[in-house]
Amino acid sequence: MSKAMGVGIIGCGNISWAYLKLANLFKDIQVKAVADINMDAAKARAAEFGVRALSVRELLRSPDIDIVVNLTVPATHFAISKQILEAGKHVYSEKPLTLSYKDALALQKLAAKKKLRVCAAPDTFLGSSHQQARKSIDDGDIGKIVSGTCHFMGPGMEMWHPNPDFFFKPGGGPVLDMGPYYITNLVNLVGPVKRVSALLGTGRKERIINSQPKNPRNGEKIKVTTPTTYHALLEFVNGACITVSLSWDVWAHKHQNMELYGQSGAMFVPDPNFFGGDVMVAGSDQTPRALKPWDHPFGKNNWGQANSQTDVLWANYRCAGLADMAASIRKKKVPRCDISLVAHVVDVMTAMLESGKSKKVVTLKSTCKRPAPLGPDDARALMK
Ligand SMILES: NC(=O)c1ccc[n+]([C@@H]2O[C@H](COP(=O)([O-])OP(=O)(O)OC[C@H]3O[C@@H](n4cnc5c(N)ncnc54)[C@H](O)[C@@H]3O)[C@@H](O)[C@H]2O)c1
Repeated sequence: MSKAMGVGIIGCGNISWAYLKLANLFKDIQVKAVADINMDAAKARAAEFGVRALSVRELLRSPDIDIVVNLTVPATHFAISKQILEAGKHVYSEKPLTLSYKDALALQKLAAKKKLRVCAAPDTFLGSSHQQARKSIDDGDIGKIVSGTCHFMGPGMEMWHPNPDFFFKPGGGPVLDMGPYYITNLVNLVGPVKRVSALLGTGRKERIINSQPKNPRNGEKIKVTTPTTYHALLEFVNGACITVSLSWDVWAHKHQNMELYGQSGAMFVPDPNFFGGDVMVAGSDQTPRALKPWDHPFGKNNWGQANSQTDVLWANYRCAGLADMAASIRKKKVPRCDISLVAHVVDVMTAMLESGKSKKVVTLKSTCKRPAPLGPDDARALMK
């Protein structure tokens, strides 16, 4: 068996625990070290998972590290990813890759010059449900997709996050924060986007922190300086026209996360923020039925607390995109979460922001190929 690629992680906050835990499922990656601007955070994670705690500079100089995972906050994604490339290492970034298309393009150019790969989350589109939806579409079950709807709407991050300030500043907002899951899956299922038109709004000028019970910041007011509601229309290269609503101004709703309407049927896709869930398809009888579950490893429940009454078990295969990246580098293939896809997603999201501001239809600067499908055997091949 060939040797796994060495992985280093920069950013030891909330999401790093899941990466360190789940990396062990995959055979082509091995986490060697972690780093953080806050050395105590790095030391704590390192001790928990038996890896080295290093400074960012030391990690970037480590000869046993091939890929560096950027789990810092969105505002520093570009600078840290650029530093990683300059150190001669491949980058896997959490979402959003960058806050502007210009920065995404700069990373793409630098990576090409250095003959290195840049990939980014989300990798939830590699989950069992979204890959089954992809297969069903590719098999022609609902015909050519002509339209659809996509909704992610809720009351806001101040309801659960202890320090929600950044979500309500420029660079935050529902499009850049949650949009990557939904837009990436639309590109996976329908293909690249051609034009975007959007309307925006801000439900409240101020938010009151009301998160975890013991949060000392509860009751504190934060100013909202970025729009919190977007309603967009996306025109795809294949001609499909899809409504996308992303909002933190909605207390409750009954919209499906994603509905796709084809020339001969309709599909109801589960939440692209997750790997699993039922895919429903309706044909000319107009009756939605769940597709028979397939034996895909990234749909098996593996996460949550089995004995808790509040936590349910669900499928979480974060690191699937990273593992696919390592395997693809070895095989000299384009990774499924490659920057060619991710930069296009950044282009779509920033076009939504721009259109909302300018009230004009925005034609995208980029396009991309759909990522290769990841069937059950492809997924099994990534696992130990
Ligand atoms: N928390 C989640 O559930 C979740 C889920 C999916 C994706 N993400 C994404 O993952 C990323 C990280 O999220 P998080 O919730 O773990 O954030 P976090 O704030 O909990 O952790 C970020 C960490 O990065 C470190 N950091 C910041 N700037 C740095 C720098 N310049 N150099 C080195 N370290 C630096 C911070 O000290 C902190 O420990 C974000 O892009 C977020 O969108 C988070």
